Amino acid sequence: MTSETWRVGVLFSTSGITAAVECTQRNATLLAIEQINSQGGVCGRLIEPIDYNPESDPKKYREYAERLCDQDKVSVIFGCYMSSSRKAALPVIEARGALLFYPTLYEGYEYSQHCIYTGTAPNQNSVQLVTYVNQKYGNRIVMIGSNYVYPYESNRVIADLFSQAGGRVLDERYLSLNAKADEYKAVVDRIAQLNPDAIYSTVVGDGIALFYQAYRDAGLNPETMPIISLSTSEAEIAQMPAGTAQGHITAAPYFEGLDTPKSHEFMAAYHARFGSGARLTACAEAAFFQVHLYAIGLERAGTDHFPFLLPHLHNAEFDAPQGRVKIDNTNNHTHLWSRVGKVNSEGLFDVVFEPGVRVAPDPYMLEHYLDGRDTHAVRLTREDTR
Ligand code: ACM
Repeated sequence: MTSETWRVGVLFSTSGITAAVECTQRNATLLAIEQINSQGGVCGRLIEPIDYNPESDPKKYREYAERLCDQDKVSVIFGCYMSSSRKAALPVIEARGALLFYPTLYEGYEYSQHCIYTGTAPNQNSVQLVTYVNQKYGNRIVMIGSNYVYPYESNRVIADLFSQAGGRVLDERYLSLNAKADEYKAVVDRIAQLNPDAIYSTVVGDGIALFYQAYRDAGLNPETMPIISLSTSEAEIAQMPAGTAQGHITAAPYFEGLDTPKSHEFMAAYHARFGSGARLTACAEAAFFQVHLYAIGLERAGTDHFPFLLPHLHNAEFDAPQGRVKIDNTNNHTHLWSRVGKVNSEGLFDVVFEPGVRVAPDPYMLEHYLDGRDTHAVRLTREDTR
């Protein structure tokens, strides 16, 4: 063991509007680093996290990315939740020849050689969400989102998929990231008038609790008109009074409580480290397994210098809590499992739709349709990975 360490940047917000979910990502990152260090580190060197709080502000993500690369001399950064933060930090990371590991669902339609995307691309969550909702609830949709890039782009994909299913978008609204309760109430009043089959929400951060509360206050019924989402997680549900989100729907590769041996190990370690009340999310699970994938690549490369590390990350696989995952060697995204969950009375998700296949990432949605032509993306069944 040498005194030299592998220094890595950790950029998640512990304050500001997306702190609830980003705290779960930060916790899971630190947990994975501690696990690897307790096994002796990588190539005889411990991993040393250098941790900053960018306060949910894209400008601060860029500034801290600069500081991490230029002053702290890291080659690898784990971080970012909102796509606006990733888009602010990534050009800095690219220009310095460093590498970002990004553990968040996002809108797709992006590729950077200097980013490993371990959250879902739209073909790994949106296709499954629309398939489920179309069969169970219908296809007349209202969209409500926060006012930034992920909601615009995700809405475009979801609108396209519902239109392939014969449905349509009745209305599309955007609220500022700091919108107040009365603004959510006004949107819910409009939704009640339109009476859609489901409401697609791309609201992020603290606004999620305000929106679900406004929905509940209006007396609407999730059994006939659920809020469906990719960005509502256990962390935001924990910010709501008990029962507020019950019956609403989210698609993600992982939910807290998922019944796999690796998920039980992950939950036990996480709760032992951060307390039994600390929530887990799909974004935290991605934050956790991406550190382990980094360690696998680093062990093989023996260096964290980007041009040598990247080839060893390609095709790297890890038995994650969601199932075995793999970094794609053509697009730097990750092969992931798809699930749809419905919120139960404890504020956790019951899995209601689980195709049981690992889905190859197709970030540009080149081969994804709802009519059964989509055979290319699904290559591996659960049996294949056992
Ligand atoms: C997001 O902005 N990618 C949730």
